[in-house]
Amino acid sequence: MSENTVALVTGANKGIGYEIAAGLGALGWSVGVGARDEERREAAVEKLRAAGVDAFGVPLDVTDDASVAAAAALVDKRAGRLDVLVNNAGITGGPAQMPTTADLAAVREAVETNVIGVIRVTNAMLPLLRRSPSPRIVNMSSTVGSLTRQTTAGAETGPIAVAYAPSKTFLNAVTVQYAKELRDTNILINAACPGFCATDLNGFRGVRTPEQGAAIAIRLATLPDDGPTGGFFEDDGPVPW
Ligand SMILES: NC(=O)c1ccc[n+]([C@@H]2O[C@H](COP(=O)([O-])OP(=O)(O)OC[C@H]3O[C@@H](n4cnc5c(N)ncnc54)[C@H](OP(=O)(O)O)[C@@H]3O)[C@@H](O)[C@H]2O)c1
Repeated sequence: MSENTVALVTGANKGIGYEIAAGLGALGWSVGVGARDEERREAAVEKLRAAGVDAFGVPLDVTDDASVAAAAALVDKRAGRLDVLVNNAGITGGPAQMPTTADLAAVREAVETNVIGVIRVTNAMLPLLRRSPSPRIVNMSSTVGSLTRQTTAGAETGPIAVAYAPSKTFLNAVTVQYAKELRDTNILINAACPGFCATDLNGFRGVRTPEQGAAIAIRLATLPDDGPTGGFFEDDGPVPW
């Protein structure tokens, strides 16, 4: 068993996921860099190690059963448990997102990665999380998945996006279901919105840095034992469903 707190961040080779890995690593934690592309993964691991982080590469495609099972086996072999899982990997499903002209393949792809992928990874990692004294799960959602914000005049909503936005609404609902099932355990699971950050996901149009976006995930990853579960949070506090 590892002496350090052990975290796994999916989609950690770049963007907000990389900064979450860097932030958790700066706490002295051992951080698994979950990423599907070997070159990008190893480059991130090297960069994190150069910054003093105890980083290790975890080959991981969240849409692939065998890849996710192998990732769990790797973490088990290396650390014997998992303390924190950050389900950060996500995609938009591409630019054409008007509901009336939707590309159904893009909708399916967004749900497969942003929702089914989170369930797949979470369930594979749960046996390892159950061995932790204070397990935490953070699902990277978005306020564009907030139906309240989407339907409140003047609230920040994001563009019409029939693949991306509902996939995050779905993810929020899934987060609540996990929290209900895990209510009598020590596992805390919450959804987070990083704000509009400049990353590949939005062609770097975001107004916040990925590091700023990582802060809420780091906060939810380090919740005390009496912290919230089944919630949805941004830097300023709870986000309405
Ligand atoms: N940026 C924002 O303004 C914003 C706002 C709200 C929420 N978010 C959420 O924050 C999270 C991170 O987004 P980001 O902005 O940092 O985007 P990003 O820079 O595009 O990074 C996305 C990460 O997810 C990985 N990924 C995608 N599909 C994957 C798969 N099937 N298996 C494993 N990894 C996969 C990507 O890997 P590759 O390099 O291999 O593609 C990449 O590492 C996402 O869940 C996103 O929806 C972002």
